[in-house]
Amino acid sequence: MQEQIKNINSLEELQSLYAATFGKNGTMTAKLKNMKNLDNDARAELNRENSELRELFKVRQAELETAAMMAGLQKQKLDVSLNREPENNGSLHPLTHTLADVSEILESFGYEMWTGPEIEDDWHNFTALNTPEYHPARDMQDTFFLENGNVMRTQTSAIQIRSMEKTGAPIKMFGIGATYRKEMDATHSPMFHQIEGLYIDKDVTMSDLIADVREFLKKFFEIDDVELRIRPSYFPFTEPSIEIDLKWQGKKWLEIMGAGMVHPNVLRNCGINPDEYQGFAFGFGWDRLAMLKYGLNDIRKFYDGDVRWLKSAGF
Ligand code: DAH
Repeated sequence: MQEQIKNINSLEELQSLYAATFGKNGTMTAKLKNMKNLDNDARAELNRENSELRELFKVRQAELETAAMMAGLQKQKLDVSLNREPENNGSLHPLTHTLADVSEILESFGYEMWTGPEIEDDWHNFTALNTPEYHPARDMQDTFFLENGNVMRTQTSAIQIRSMEKTGAPIKMFGIGATYRKEMDATHSPMFHQIEGLYIDKDVTMSDLIADVREFLKKFFEIDDVELRIRPSYFPFTEPSIEIDLKWQGKKWLEIMGAGMVHPNVLRNCGINPDEYQGFAFGFGWDRLAMLKYGLNDIRKFYDGDVRWLKSAGF
């Protein structure tokens, strides 16, 4: 019996053996009922056996209950040691890196960052920039026109108009944002980005422009000295207009930005008196600058959202 109790493995079996032993018709119950017919020694032995069995049942019951509880806990257990999926760390997009660098440099020169709407009206994108409707320069940019006459902004130059209209002169700002044109190949995307600088005050000159651009390029590309080539050019909103080339790695010339002295008509359009104020503007491709800095050659990849490309490009 003692061995039998110790070997029982379920509470139900233990309970039925208990009932068969101590229940109404149990074996021990019967023995105890017969106690009065026993001699002293036999009584003492029966008492001992009785308490020993009760104790054994109690111990086994506690053991089985503990085991059942542990099994239950085991089932509920949350295994916090489970290996996680390999982690994919996020990283900043090359354009974000580039903007961080550009804005840090331009802000250190005293330029203030501006943005503007990507859907522009004709005035800010063209007319105020000295490009009235009949002007052939409108064909320089393949514009997306909206049905209501608005356009998808073709150039961040629209932001300089907004900033001058709002704050007047003097002003030193740079505008950043997405721009849109109907063109698409490895170096052109229908949506791309530009950055535009503007500095208007009483005695701002072309040499201030070239000095700022030179310092900017030195800091941005982290090179000690930059070799620039200034070429005459044409933009309706600047007079004179120039294009600035940068000698790239001591070898070839790269066209890096358009610039010039802001046309008096543009100042006038923004309520600034050109007899009192003058200044310069410059504009360049934000994406293009990022491509040069990080050695990337397909602008379309910037917008694919392909993490594998970002990783392979070192981001
Ligand atoms: N808006 C011109 C373009 O998209 C770039 C540009 C040229 C901006 C000369 C300027 C500038 O501010 O002065 O091609």
